[in-house]
Amino acid sequence: MRVDKVKLKELIKNKINRAGLNEEHAEVVADVLTHADLRGIHSHGAMRVEYYAERIAKGGINPNPNIKFEKTGPASGVLEADGGVGHYMAKKAMEEAIKMAKEVGVAVVGVKNMSHSGALSYFVQQAANEQMVALSMCQSDPMVVPFGGAEPYYGTNPIAFAAPSSSGDNIIIDMATTVQAWGKVLHARSKNESIPDTWAVDENGEPTTDPFKVKALVPIAGPKGYGLMMMVDVLSGILLGLPFGKHVSSMYEDLTAYRKLGQLHIVINPEFFGDKQVFLDKVTQTIEELHEIKPAKGFDRVMYPGEPEILRSKAYEKDGIEIVDDIYEYLESDVIHNNNYDNKDPFAK
Ligand code: NAI
Repeated sequence: MRVDKVKLKELIKNKINRAGLNEEHAEVVADVLTHADLRGIHSHGAMRVEYYAERIAKGGINPNPNIKFEKTGPASGVLEADGGVGHYMAKKAMEEAIKMAKEVGVAVVGVKNMSHSGALSYFVQQAANEQMVALSMCQSDPMVVPFGGAEPYYGTNPIAFAAPSSSGDNIIIDMATTVQAWGKVLHARSKNESIPDTWAVDENGEPTTDPFKVKALVPIAGPKGYGLMMMVDVLSGILLGLPFGKHVSSMYEDLTAYRKLGQLHIVINPEFFGDKQVFLDKVTQTIEELHEIKPAKGFDRVMYPGEPEILRSKAYEKDGIEIVDDIYEYLESDVIHNNNYDNKDPFAK
């Protein structure tokens, strides 16, 4: 069904708030999830609400954390999230990074001990909207084989970059460092379809086309994606003194415990590297030149990263956001959660 973004945000906020999270934090969760759905990234939108609600209700997210931001140097800082909800913490840390980059040109800000923070595009967009360049990366639960390995070690460790342009549209590349998201394997299971042999491996570490035999996902681009995924973990985990690699907590293992995840933002103020207007104009020029490239067979035109999401947002703004009926019914209902997620094997569901 189609839902207006204001209505969707309100439904998400109410559910998360009723699960026990304070109103200010619930508001940010709702904003980040609605942002994802509006961009067509439904894997990180309203479909996550029931899981968050169950985790909050069971004590696995701190509803009233003692947040501490420490400026550790002229261009660095660490936000202690105290088990709080990741969306709020990552947003707050980005606000600090933007403030710092306005003053000193660059900023690196880490978040420690947070829970899942959702779609990273939200946070790099905060900086792009202030005409800054940004990167953000975070840890996620171990379900990916390292290149050459037959058992999982890393998470889908996403990374996002944003650059503003003079037209007001932002370039945003925001991606998991795995070939496919776990949600796509679940989708194939639900339709009893096979998957390409490039997405995942079975219990022996062999490529599989059977979605029910999947025991781990694989990194993008072989050893290169594996290296990228590893550096995301080094920067958002090891650097911040947090659990890393296979020691990162699983999303569904214990819904009563805080997750202790890390995220790192890097913000660059173009004013400190030349004329800001020239920078913005040249990003626009790049976009225009890419649009003029002759399309390959099977393509209408070349798009810039983030453009598919902008196009989907425009359509959803007009016609409402497409939401699965069951998810909408849950959001409207009085049910907080249905005990669906606790102690689940991430590959079993
Ligand atoms: P995706 O595969 O949907 O998109 C990846 C990127 O490719 C996007 O920036 C998109 O704009 C770009 N793109 C796609 N088609 C394009 C085209 N034709 N031309 C130009 N650019 C194009 O993303 P993925 O990997 O499925 O990730 C989805 C979301 O999941 C992200 O928001 C990510 O941050 C989030 N995520 C969050 C995690 C967490 O623990 N917080 C873990 C893993 C992912």
